Amino acid sequence: ALVTTTEMFKKAQEGKYAVGAFNVENMEMVMAVIEAAEELNSPVILQTTPSTVKYAGLDYYLANAKVAAERAKVPVAMHLDHGSSFDLAMRALRTGYTSIMIDGSHQSFEENISLSKAVVEACNPSLIPVEAELGKVGGKEDDLDGGEGSAHTDPQEAKEFVERTGVSSLAIAIGTAHGLYKGEPKIDLDRLSEIKKLVSVPLVLHGGSGIPDETIKETIRRGIVKVNYATELRIAYSNGVKKVLSEDPEVIDPKKYGKAGLQSVKSFVKEKMVVCGSINKA
Ligand code: 13P
Ligand code: ZN
Ligand code: NA
Repeated sequence: ALVTTTEMFKKAQEGKYAVGAFNVENMEMVMAVIEAAEELNSPVILQTTPSTVKYAGLDYYLANAKVAAERAKVPVAMHLDHGSSFDLAMRALRTGYTSIMIDGSHQSFEENISLSKAVVEACNPSLIPVEAELGKVGGKEDDLDGGEGSAHTDPQEAKEFVERTGVSSLAIAIGTAHGLYKGEPKIDLDRLSEIKKLVSVPLVLHGGSGIPDETIKETIRRGIVKVNYATELRIAYSNGVKKVLSEDPEVIDPKKYGKAGLQSVKSFVKEKMVVCGSINKA
């Protein structure tokens, strides 16, 4: 069923596990993520960034998610990832997305607060939860290339930010980056614990691709409730497709290589659901 993340996160906080949020780009990736969730009886979040939304439209992705969610027994949420403006957040709300991120992390503290608060106020009447971000996750979030430049979240500021905006969940910067990492990422676990002490809303980890599974598990023990994965799903999908096309260049049926991409994404997502501890939590 298509649901919001409210109940999902409440259960995850109580049960000390996280829900995986997987960026999807096409129908096969939606199918892959939902099949994984169904087979492992796991709650799941599908999400699309603004550049993905631009490719086919909010309505097109939501329609895919709805069909998948209606067929599924597990709870499925459809989330706008890195919502880049008030306007896009409102369009996602009107379209029927069940969770919305407004990303004001590139603006000043005060501007981030007023933007996030405006989105929260607009989403409140329909009970749609809002994720905001404080601090800078490394890399470019939209096309998800790894890169440098991150400002870690200040715990006191996080507390003030959540109180003043009323956001439902908070994405924090503790050393993760979008895309793959050049070396081992250095994750500031103590900072996460400090934030967790001061902030009671669910905490979100961006930049999941490339982080060792053991590190992800430790962040969940310390309070992370949502883990985002994007780049590695793209890699999995493309590798699956490429394998079929390179083994048999005569293939012309999109179902053949689409299926291979799907299977490859599905097995990646299953692995990460195990890492998140969300299996059998639906
Ligand atoms: P990765 O591409 O590093 O998995 O980051 C995902 C993400 O944070 C999407 O918002
Ligand atoms: Zn992100
Ligand atoms: Na990453």
